This record gives sequence, structure tokens and C-alpha cells, in this order.
Amino acid sequence: MDSKLFVTSSTFVLLISFATVTGDYVRPPPRKTLRFPWNPKPSSHPQQVHISLAGDKHMRVSWITEDKSAPSIVDYGTSPGKYSATSLGESTSYNYLLYSSGKIHHTVIGPLKPDTVYFYQCGGQGPEFQLKTPPAHLPITFAVAGDLGQTGWTESTLNHIDKCKYDVHLLPGDLSYADYIQHRWDTFGNLVQPLASARPWMVTEGNHEKESIPLFKHGFESYNSRWKMPFEESGSNSNLYYSFEVAGAHIIVLGSYTDYDESSNQYNWLKANLAEVDRKKTPWLIVLFHVPWYNSNEAHKCEGDGMMAAMEPLLYAASADILLAGHVHAYERTLRVNNGRSDPCGAVHITIGDGGNREGLARKYKEPQPEWSAFREASFGHGELKIVNSTHAYWSWHRNDDDEPVRSDETWITSLISSGCIADRRDERRKILLGH
Ligand SMILES: *[C@@H]1O[C@H](CO)[C@@H](O)[C@H](O)[C@H]1NC(C)=O
Ligand SMILES: [Fe+2]
Repeated sequence: MDSKLFVTSSTFVLLISFATVTGDYVRPPPRKTLRFPWNPKPSSHPQQVHISLAGDKHMRVSWITEDKSAPSIVDYGTSPGKYSATSLGESTSYNYLLYSSGKIHHTVIGPLKPDTVYFYQCGGQGPEFQLKTPPAHLPITFAVAGDLGQTGWTESTLNHIDKCKYDVHLLPGDLSYADYIQHRWDTFGNLVQPLASARPWMVTEGNHEKESIPLFKHGFESYNSRWKMPFEESGSNSNLYYSFEVAGAHIIVLGSYTDYDESSNQYNWLKANLAEVDRKKTPWLIVLFHVPWYNSNEAHKCEGDGMMAAMEPLLYAASADILLAGHVHAYERTLRVNNGRSDPCGAVHITIGDGGNREGLARKYKEPQPEWSAFREASFGHGELKIVNSTHAYWSWHRNDDDEPVRSDETWITSLISSGCIADRRDERRKILLGH
């Protein structure tokens, strides 16, 4: 207890001193891609275990075996080594040029109790894993980091996330940076397993997941096979966009690299999904996608404009609270903003594409800083979003400073439900989302 207090107070001292030395902060260079020594295991043993939320009270467990005859079963229970339930799932595999994937298993377990530790084993073999289900009610904490890759900085970011207390990881795109080299998906899967097998990882696709080859391969084959998200559970017909609800938050995950114009499936699914949100049940509306809409970095300028033009009016009509994006390898947070300027009924946009990939940081910002941009800095790090209650959430961004996480930006965000915006804009919501 004492040591915890000490850490907290020293963080504050650092915070205060940083206010004066930020200008002298020397940003570290990119770090090398990690080396993964060959670590032979029985071919039926699970690898790359990760979990994701799969509808109310359910969790999807995903893993890979070399052995194509290994069963897709998960045994689980609330005490170690004693499994009171078993679920049987499905499996898939894919070929990509000369590469053949292992057997990719996806098994949904549940119903599970909220805020409870479960012990589980995959395929009746290998080590026991442990997961904790999210709470049924607020408060809840999300860890947020995008554009991870698998370098020394990725490792540093993951270590920091591991130290924080969180319930669900949100990853706004660009996971492995496999970039066509398929075995890098496997090394990434193993790198993130300690975290991703313990807390649900809810991900969306970025440009590095695409891996399409004209006339030969449609995009996202490896991503869709390996990182199955609850799209069927949320009425979507594509793994590239879906939604879920957890403890007072309705979270919509969109695809920046699939059609988004007004005639597209994604657009119409989004509109229908937004029309169904019940803010009494889920006071917070959060949206996750890869390419940011409000960002003042020189990197990837205007790439999100098409999607923003199509979808921002829907999200504004629905009073979305927070939009999280990646892609730009630097951190930025905006004020509440809509239609190009700050607006108290708009969304807070956060770009957090600074997880640590091999491409390095995006250091150049547009000058002057736009009026809607509240904080921007090109450093690796991760974010934490603690939703305290229906009106207050606390956001913080933790810079990987010399391998220590340092809280560099923090702010309270008050929900639109507490602002009067939702009541004021009821007619607009009805017109745009419900069409009458
Ligand atoms: C919500 O949390 C904030 C911050 O801790 C607090 O000031 C506020 O009173 C809480 N509101 C309710 C309704 O509990
Ligand atoms: Fe990207």
C-alpha cells in the first residue's frame, strides 16, 4: 500500500517537472523488430491465445494449433484446474502464397458472471489460462493502443499496459505489421498472448491488415481468420465493422478500409445500430476506427476525409462522445468538435497510433495548431479511459519515457448525456437516424 502511494506521488512530481521540460524532451528513435527464438511445443498445444467479447455475458476464445486434428473445445471454470463447463467451437485456416496457417480455433464460452476470474484450457491440452470478465456496471477501464507492431517499443507499451488495471483493450487498427509475411502474424499472436488471453482485445483493421494482391487476394484474409470479432452478434455481415456493449458503454467499431458511402452496407448498418442505442442503458457512446478524422499531423493528411464526410453527420446526430483512431504514429486529443470546428455537442477525437511499430514516429505537425486541437505529441505510449459513472470519464495518455510510463496528458471528459446536447438535438436525431 505504501509503495503504491509513493509511486503515485512520484508520478505527480514527474508530471509537474515535465510541464517545464517538455521542450527539451529528446524523443527516442524507433526500436528494432523483436527476435523470436524458435520455441518448439507439441503441435496440439494452443498458441496465440486471445479473447474477445462475444455478445452479452459471452467471450470468444481464439487460438491456433499446428495439429489439424486438435479439437476446438474450451474447458473453463472459476477455480484453477477445475472446469465445470465445456464449449465446442469452430475452426478455420487459410493459405497465402507459400504459407499455410495452422488450425485457427474460435470457441464462444458463457454465460459468464461479470467481474469474475475464470480459468480455462484450450483443446484439452497445454497450459491453463486465466481471464477476467468485465464488470456489469460502471466504473470500467479501457486500455487503448493502436499501431502496435512487434518491436522493442511494442514490448515497452505492452509492459506498461500490463501494469495498469483495466478491463478491456481497444485497438484502433494496425496489429502485427505482418505486411504479407504471414509468419509475423504468428509471432505477433504469441507476443500479445500474455495480455490478450487475460482481457478481451477488441480490435479493428488498419491498412497493415489489408494484404491484398490485385486479381488474386481480397484483403483482410489473415486478419479475418485470426481476429474474429462479434460482428454476427451485432447484426453486421462483415468482420470489418461491429459493435458491443459493456458496462454502460455502447462501442461501435468501424472499418476505414471498406465502403462507407451512403449506399454502403457499413453506412446502413451504422445508421440502424445508432438508432437502437439506448442512452439510459449505455450513457456513453464510443467509436473506434483506424484513420483519424481530426488530426493536425503532417502524416496521412486528409486520408480520413471521405469517411468523415459520409459518417460524421450520423455520429453527430447520435451524439457520440469519444472517437478513437490510430494510423498517425503520434498522440493527439481534440476538444469536442464537429464539421471542422469545436462544438460542445461534438465528439472528442483521440489519435493513439503510437503503440510502437517499426515505422517510427510522425513528428511533424501543422502550424499553427488548429483551435480544436487540445494536446499533441509525437511519442510512443498508450491511453487509459476510465469511465467513472454516467457523467464523468477520466482519460490519460502515458508516454513511454525511457521505458517508464509517464502520464503526460490527462483530462476529465463529461458525457453528452449530462450536457443537454442530447435533449436539445432530439429532432435532428429523429430526422437523420430514423428518417421521420
Ligand atoms: C461522477 O463522478 C464524478 C467524478 O468522480 C463525481 O464528481 C460525480 O459526482 C459523479 N456523479 C454521480 C452521479 O455519481
Ligand atoms: Fe495505419
